[in-house]
Amino acid sequence: MNDVSQTPAAAGKILPDAQTVTFVKHWTDTLFSFRVTRPRSLRFRSGEFVMIGLLDDNGKPIQRAYSIASPAWDEELEFYSIKVQDGPLTSRLQHIQVGEQIILRPKPVGTLVHDALLPGKRIWFLATGTGIAPFASLMREPETYEKYDQVIMMHTCRQVGELEYGRQLVESLKDDPLIGEMVEGKLLYYPTTTREDFHHMGRITDNLSSGKVFTDLGLDPMCAENDRAMVCGSLAFNKDVMAVLESFGLREGANSEPREYVVEKAFVGDGV
Ligand code: FAD
Ligand code: A2P
Repeated sequence: MNDVSQTPAAAGKILPDAQTVTFVKHWTDTLFSFRVTRPRSLRFRSGEFVMIGLLDDNGKPIQRAYSIASPAWDEELEFYSIKVQDGPLTSRLQHIQVGEQIILRPKPVGTLVHDALLPGKRIWFLATGTGIAPFASLMREPETYEKYDQVIMMHTCRQVGELEYGRQLVESLKDDPLIGEMVEGKLLYYPTTTREDFHHMGRITDNLSSGKVFTDLGLDPMCAENDRAMVCGSLAFNKDVMAVLESFGLREGANSEPREYVVEKAFVGDGV
């Protein structure tokens, strides 16, 4: 394990594009979330990602892409992170404390934005693992509820504990002074596990293909006319979900060419 007292952040050294950590919460031994101050000049669209990082022992920045999990209107920025034990960034980042600094490059980008979709009636947020991060932003974004009659958040993890960040976030929305009333009756949350007993189980791909999620939630099946989707998970997950969405007639869109669904990788590689 790294000796964090020796890291530049802990030593109070000023990092390039430095932001200060204001909150840290550990959810499981592999997941944590944290909040940092927001650069005054940073404008982003809910669902986008930025590069964040720390300095290594030689003072060289280690930077990685991170979805901003807080909505565009929030005064601070929230991130939801994996802890990869031998990962160059997260082996260090997982020890970050309130008052320490991280690097945050203020250049937001990404495809999981409302502008990349044609108007529709329902929007599906489909995520595995930390792929829920951009939707933690979009579920707190008023535009989501202004644009759609129904918002369906499907989140799948191996274990129940890995769903807790998303569960608490969804639970908190009804009491949110800004969007509490907009969310009421519009947001449907469908968490599932695949490797531990839970009231709803199964992969997102299987629950869509079999129609189980439509039956469980009392919804009509997906169709290209009404449904829009945003997807964020591993490469294998994204590929398989895209095939399912295409089977319902939805087509992939982009900022430059809005269509019925958009996709972003939650991480690069095979997972930990
Ligand atoms: P790395 O060397 O980057 O990764 C080592 C290995 O760990 C990877 O090859 C992969 O197998 C696995 N891994 C990495 N990230 C994850 C993950 N999130 N879930 C499961 N396995 C993983 N990560 C987040 O935790 N939260 C985010 O919001 C987030 N947003 C991202 C957005 C984009 C567009 C991309 C491309 C990646 C995002 N990532 C996110 C992944 C992130 O960039 C890093 O890979 C992660 O922080 C681990 O960094 P590392 O240096 O410790 O290990
Ligand atoms: P499963 O347990 O059946 O593999 P991971 O931790 O491997 O990234 O997986 C996170 C969640 O996503 C797990 O519940 C896993 O289910 C599911 N998953 C992984 N790959 C796919 C895929 N190709 N299609 C659908 N779900 C997937």
